[in-house]
Amino acid sequence: MKEFNPENISLLTCKSRFDLWIQFINLKSVSEIAEIGVFRGLFASQILKNCLSINRYYMIDPWKKLKDWNKPLNIDNQTFEQCYLETLERTDFAKSRRIILRGKTTEVINQIDDESLDLIYIDGDHTLKGISIDLLNSYSKVKDGGYIAGDDFCVSIWQHKSNYEPTLIFPYAIYFAEAVGAHIYALPFNQFVIKKDIKKKDFKFINLSGDSRYNNSSLLKQFEIQLKNIEI
Ligand SMILES: C[S@@+](CC[C@H](N)C(=O)[O-])C[C@H]1O[C@@H](n2cnc3c(N)ncnc32)[C@H](O)[C@@H]1O
Repeated sequence: MKEFNPENISLLTCKSRFDLWIQFINLKSVSEIAEIGVFRGLFASQILKNCLSINRYYMIDPWKKLKDWNKPLNIDNQTFEQCYLETLERTDFAKSRRIILRGKTTEVINQIDDESLDLIYIDGDHTLKGISIDLLNSYSKVKDGGYIAGDDFCVSIWQHKSNYEPTLIFPYAIYFAEAVGAHIYALPFNQFVIKKDIKKKDFKFINLSGDSRYNNSSLLKQFEIQLKNIEI
């Protein structure tokens, strides 16, 4: 894999998260990639179509209704089965490069060798439980010098209505980067990326998103705002 600094991505030319990761993967010549949370295979198909350096694309998703996931996308089993079939159809052109691991992260991720991935893209269960499990399990699967990235790095934890669990990718991913001693970048389109660097062990938060609200990674304000919105 070529050496690459995420700060070199020409973020201004990216029109979507798809553009951003296609550019990133092509610049890094990523070969081994995993995606946690695949749903209808939209991201996977775009990446496989536009990134020919990819030799192996692991797709992790249970494609089933989960009893412990309080998020709007936790739909019925029949619709999930359709999403699974859609994913197969959408990525059929790249079937020799895809490996489907059907199950929750904890159930299937150990089918991937430790330190084998150049990049893992986390877009599954976005709750505090989900992102803790996904980041911890992903870290050991990525090579030294590889990247852990993800979607829904939203400045507000109240991504959905307040009867759903909050989305804790932000700020939790920043806390995780500090715990392992890594650089973490906030990128446009609610994306983040952590660079695994075992030798350096240096924590730094680099905000390239253009949104200064990421610079405050405490939670108190977010709960205060939510409490004010509740009608008593
Ligand atoms: C936002 S969608 C993924 C969208 C996809 N990454 C894209 O960009 O096209 C979230 C997916 O996460 C999956 N998911 C939820 N909990 C999960 C878990 N514990 N492990 C793996 N996947 C999970 C859901 O089944 C759902 O398909």
